[in-house]
Amino acid sequence: MEQQMKIDILTIFPEICRGPLSESIMGRAQAAGAVDLAVHDLRDWSEDRHRRVDDEPFGGGPGMVMKVEPFFAAVEELRTEHSKVVLMTPQGRRFDQAQARALSSEVHLIILCGHYEGVDHRVVEALVDLELSIGDYVLTNGAIAATVLVDAVVRLIPGVLGDDQSVEEESFTDSQLIEGPHYTRPRDFRGMQVPEVLLSGHHAKIVQWRQERALERTRQNRPDLLE
Ligand code: ADE
Repeated sequence: MEQQMKIDILTIFPEICRGPLSESIMGRAQAAGAVDLAVHDLRDWSEDRHRRVDDEPFGGGPGMVMKVEPFFAAVEELRTEHSKVVLMTPQGRRFDQAQARALSSEVHLIILCGHYEGVDHRVVEALVDLELSIGDYVLTNGAIAATVLVDAVVRLIPGVLGDDQSVEEESFTDSQLIEGPHYTRPRDFRGMQVPEVLLSGHHAKIVQWRQERALERTRQNRPDLLE
């Protein structure tokens, strides 16, 4: 393996990340040594005998705020000079394929997961290099978002997907179009036929057909990409 990335996730719900990230391609990527993933319980760095990691907001308001000390203690223990610290938050910059590609060449990611109303802003100011949101909706916690981010990043590490082509040709690679439709056997399912051109063996025609369908599907589902 040419390159090993290290990823540390800090969350109060480690099991949310562990299940999805141990299956299938993510599991194999770790077994093959492409990525060294550790999911930590942030409470292990709590200074409190009740392992508390949240407290009431100064100035009042609803909900709880995640405390500054556990994040500092954890990051100071885990980081090296090559670490990039990412905070998952709905207030972050929107995560996309270009960002996933950029992160896939990092040496070490430390991913912080928020919960409750948010995290003490001193964490953002003094520890975090990049705040990322996985979309304009609010999840109950950042562990789900961190899982999404790790999956999107790790599959782009060279060698993780067997067939490098599948990364080259997929949606958002040139960020203009989503992919065209795919078909497999049977040719006829309840009278619904696989498009004739795909059975023709005409490579150039197939390429052209796929481009046309990709454009059509982009117009239908993601007109914003064409603006
Ligand atoms: N935590 C809660 N909602 C989130 C989102 N949309 N993206 C990243 N982290 C989050």
